[in-house]
Amino acid sequence: MSAKVEIFEVGPRDGLQNEKRRIPTAEKIALVDCLSGAGFRRIECASFVSPKWVPQMADSGAVLAGIDRAEGVSYAALTPNLRGLEGALAARADEVAIFGSASEGFSKANINASIAESLARFRPVAEAARAAGLPVRGYVSCVVECPYDGPVAPDAVARVARALLDMGCYEISLGDTVGRATPEGIAAMLEAVTAQVPAARLAGHYHDTGGRALDNIEVSLERGLRVFDAAVGGLGGCPYAPGAAGNVATEAVAARLEALGYETGLDRGVIATAAEMARAMRVPRETDDV
Ligand code: HMG
Ligand code: MG
Repeated sequence: MSAKVEIFEVGPRDGLQNEKRRIPTAEKIALVDCLSGAGFRRIECASFVSPKWVPQMADSGAVLAGIDRAEGVSYAALTPNLRGLEGALAARADEVAIFGSASEGFSKANINASIAESLARFRPVAEAARAAGLPVRGYVSCVVECPYDGPVAPDAVARVARALLDMGCYEISLGDTVGRATPEGIAAMLEAVTAQVPAARLAGHYHDTGGRALDNIEVSLERGLRVFDAAVGGLGGCPYAPGAAGNVATEAVAARLEALGYETGLDRGVIATAAEMARAMRVPRETDDV
């Protein structure tokens, strides 16, 4: 039996959050429902953040209310503070994520807080979520490079990852937010992080601006990681990481993993359909109101 690797689908959140076109809620729901049939165990499809900061995610509650929930699929939401957690609980998200940064510049630009302030803000969110029975995932952004501060020290990543683990996060997702990391950079970062957090509790979240994301996944596999975030159709970017491209495309990751002999449990035909839908969502329509 071949070893299993899980793809955590983040397209409906990380993929869509950066789209300028206001995507109708019904289109988002249709995408999530299509993805639910592909075999993913976890799909990130909501973000309870300020609608002034990320207008595209303002209908997250309606998305979670409108989807057909498939058995065994966890529908995830970002929750930067207690207000976000309240939104996620009301919308019956199955799990939530707090999201910090290894660099001060991105932390300030993305969530208007220093790293220390953000960790202090996350602690009660993680506690309240776990008290409500929701698993909490942690993100660390800018694990190799920051769009504002430049190169990021591996030890800085390890410190934030460890802090999120100590808060009770069940998994820490390591974000190459600008998507320009090389396998060498990822390997050096993972060496420091795995000294603090076991590889079995880590995920790779690699954007693909520089076209090395699949190579970065391979080097992460060698270091023991078995979960990778990806966005169907390669959608996305981050509104607070200028120039960053989308997450590595789910269909490309699934193909590479299978070529390497890993089992993903995914139906690549359904993923191809979802990728078409995702790409079509970016095309402006005459009926758009923005
Ligand atoms: P702030 O301005 O410091 O907070 O923002 P505030 O408490 O002063 O609130 C400002 C306004 O937002 C107020 O409204 C609040 O009510 C409202 P106003 O009085 O001005 O009308 N507000 C909220 N509204 C809805 N839901 C909430 C909420 N909280 C406050 N939860 C805050 C701080 C964190 C809210 C803001 O900075 C924010 O929303 N940031 C989100 C940024 C974001 O979503 N970035 C993209 C996701 S992260 C990412 O993509 C990286 C990742 O993929 C990994 C990787 O690739 O590296 C995860
Ligand atoms: Mg991201």
